[in-house]
This record gives sequence, C-alpha cells and structure tokens, in this order.
Amino acid sequence: MLYDLLIIGGGPAGYVGAERAAHAGLKTLLIEKRKLGGVCLNEGCIPTKALLYSAKLCDNAKGGAKYGVSAENVILDHAAAMKRKDKVVRTLVAGVQAGVKGSGATIVEGEAKILGRGENGYRVQAGEEVYEAKRLLICAGSEAAMPPIDGLADSFNAGFAMTNREILAMNVVPDTLAVIGGGVIGLEMASYFASAGSKVTVVEMLNQVGGPIDAEIAGLLQKNLAKKGIEFVLGARVTAVKRGEIVYSLDGKVETLKADKALVSIGRRPSTANLGLESIGVMLERGAIVTDETLRTNIPGVYAAGDINGKSMLAHTASREAEVAVNHMLGLKDRMSYAAIPGVIYTNPEVGTVGETLEGAKAKGISAEEVKLTMKYSGRYVAENEGGDGICKLVFDKARETIIGAHIISNYASEFIISAGMMVEKCMRVDDIKRLVFPHPTVCEIIREGVFQY
Ligand code: NAI
Repeated sequence: MLYDLLIIGGGPAGYVGAERAAHAGLKTLLIEKRKLGGVCLNEGCIPTKALLYSAKLCDNAKGGAKYGVSAENVILDHAAAMKRKDKVVRTLVAGVQAGVKGSGATIVEGEAKILGRGENGYRVQAGEEVYEAKRLLICAGSEAAMPPIDGLADSFNAGFAMTNREILAMNVVPDTLAVIGGGVIGLEMASYFASAGSKVTVVEMLNQVGGPIDAEIAGLLQKNLAKKGIEFVLGARVTAVKRGEIVYSLDGKVETLKADKALVSIGRRPSTANLGLESIGVMLERGAIVTDETLRTNIPGVYAAGDINGKSMLAHTASREAEVAVNHMLGLKDRMSYAAIPGVIYTNPEVGTVGETLEGAKAKGISAEEVKLTMKYSGRYVAENEGGDGICKLVFDKARETIIGAHIISNYASEFIISAGMMVEKCMRVDDIKRLVFPHPTVCEIIREGVFQY
C-alpha cells in the first residue's frame, strides 16, 4: 500500500502530525520504536511534572505555618509519588493512542529505517515489513548528549550515572545526588530530589544556572533552590565520572565530589543515527537535520519536525512544527515562527521566559528598553507568596513601541507566559496592550502593570 505520509517517531511532533494529517484526509502511517508520546510523555516533561507536583505539595505543607497551616511529620513518599507518576503517564499515553487511532492514522510498532526512494515513493523498513509513502515526516527526537567524559560509559553501566530516563525510573531516593549540568533537566530533577530528601549538588560549567535565561532571574532561581538545601558549584567543568565520584575543574584546580548517584544532564543531541537518512541524502548540520520555515529538508517531500532539527528542542515547538509541515503538504499557507516560543523551568518558583532579553536585543542592534518590576505589584502574588522575591522583566522595542520579550520568576509563570508570548508574536503595540482587560486579582496582571510602567 502506498501511504500519502509516513511519520517516523511518535513524540509530540509525530503524534500531532499524524492526527492533523489523517484528519485532513492523508493516508498516514506512524512508526514508533518505543512508546507513543516519546520522551516528553514517557521520560521527560510529563513524568517530571507529576513528580514536581508532589514536591510542591510537600514543600507547601512544610512551609504552611507562614499561612496559618500547620502539619507535622510531612514527608514525600517517593514510592507513592512514582506510582502516581506512572499512572499519569499511562493515562496520557492511552489518550495519545486513542487520538491517533481515532484520527484514522495507522500505528506500527518498530524501528524505522529509510531504505531509499522507489518508483512510487520513499521506502521505509520496520521489522520485516517495507512501507512506501509519497512523503516523509521525520520526528525521531533526541537523546541525552554523552560527551567524551572520562569514565562516563563505565559509570552508566555500573548504574552510578543516569540520564533523565533512568532517574525517572529510580525507586530509591539517594542520600546524595550529584547533578552534572544546571540546565532545565538538572534544575527540575535537583528540585524534586531535594524535596524528597536527597542532599543535592549541582555542578555547572557556566557561571549561571538555567542556560541562556536572563542572568538576574537565574540568580534568583539559584537563591530559591539553595534555600531548599541544594548546593551549587558554578564555573566548574566535569571532566571525569567515576563510580561514586565526580571530578571537575574549578579555577584551574581539580576537585572531586562524592555522591551515591549522578544525573548527567548536559544537553541533548538529535537522534539522526540509524535512520537511513544517507540513503536519500538528507542534509545535516552539526548533527541536526536542516529544515526551512515550512520544515522541509533539502529532499523534496521529506520534512523533519521536533528535536531532530535541533532548532528549539521543546515539545511545544515540536508539535507546532509538525502542524506547519502537514499544512505545507496540504498546500495551506503556513510558516514556523521561532520568535515567541515560551521556555519554562518548572521549579518552585517557576521561570517563564519568551522572546528577547535586553542583552540579546541590544546584541541584535535593536533599540531596546527594559522595565523590571517586583512581583509584589500583583496582589495575588503577595497573597500567595509570603516572603517571595519574584520579578518580571519586560523588554520593549523603542522604535516600534512593541513588547519583544518577557522574563518572569513567579508561581504560575508557566501558565501566563503565553499571554506575553502572544503579544510578542503578534507584535502588539504598547497602546493596544494597555486596552486589554486582565482578570483581577491574578499574577498575570504583572504584565499589564509592566506595560503601564514603560
Ligand atoms: P541544557 O542545555 O538545558 O543544560 C545543560 C547544562 O549543562 C548547560 O548549562 C551546560 O553549561 C552544562 N554542561 C555541559 N557540559 C558540562 C560539563 N562537562 N560539566 C558541567 N556542566 C556542563 O540541557 P538539559 O538540561 O540536559 O536539557 C536537555 C533538553 O531538554 C533541553 O533542550 C531542554 O530544552 C529540554 N527540556 C526542557 C524542559 C522544559 O521545557 N521545562 C525540561 C527538561 C528538558
């Protein structure tokens, strides 16, 4: 049978692409080698959020006295939290399965390998079968980066070192946990295990946590996590991982850190190996598939969405990219915009960020101005965050009178960063934003306040 579209990978790009394509009438086949939902649903975003919610409840209960609520002997029962996490994942994977099947797309379990182009279309093998399709959408995702750090492979084999996959399946709470890399995965897992009772140390190569986020917000996040007992070693490059020990260089000196377990969270790289991309000549750049604004690769009829193109490496980007790719296949006018993709760190407090930072805008030659305000301008923030030190920074383009960035550390930041994202994406003018009515009292009102302070 000749399919209109064959999708490799059933993560947030692949399953969304399959549903959209099948709904639009394309004969669609989705091949997934592990579990539908991909890393996001099975060993990334969703399980982490389930665990972090348990951690937040625990932290709030322990700190309840400030709000007139007292509880004794509050503990985070890791086994129970893990069990619930598994249930959440099962529910959502079943939902994805039902959604894809309901759309009319066919799902095949197996590892897909592109064999080449035949007379009718692209030929892809999975198991014993060879499938043919007029178009391909490659959504094979990414895997944890494994740089040549001395002893790393042995430490993995010994069960000392772990990626997000293994740590999310770990049934015990280690007394001590070393987190290598203070990016998003590192901080979220550090946050959970600190609440669960581990003594956590984060070793980060750069001089700030959270990757390329606003430096002041990174500092505040670090301060809040330090209050939970997490230790940070910044400017420290891990050079070796031995069983029970991390070796890093700091200020030219070699230091060691002993730990029961180590999480390696030093970035992810596109999973392009073993896909047979070379059989049709798909172009790669620094290990990622090169795509244009409609997610086309250099090969006609072959598209790539999600982490595999290395552009944004976020689940929400992946889904939107797949939609753009399918729309392009259908001849609909659409293009991918990367200007306003929200980034969130789901720690407590949360960090939400979108668009340009002041420094980033200036580096691009934009005449930019920043309004920084304490979250205490929000009545609801004050009501719910005793002693909170959250801030909101809005970045404006002075020439166009538009908002081009928002950077927030606060509860609910994950939920309302999209409102700033819409303003950035739609290049809303300050005057128009001022006319919007925000619900009161909400934490989100900080954006309205910031716009009025501009
Ligand atoms: P990341 O790129 O966010 O952070 C990796 C960190 O490791 C960087 O700060 C880097 O400086 C540091 N590092 C690299 N080599 C090192 C060394 N030898 N010693 C010490 N530090 C070193 O990558 P992460 O946290 O692994 O996340 C991977 C991907 O997953 C990211 O692309 C992220 O966007 C995505 N993700 C997103 C989440 C979210 O949206 N909330 C949650 C979890 C992951």
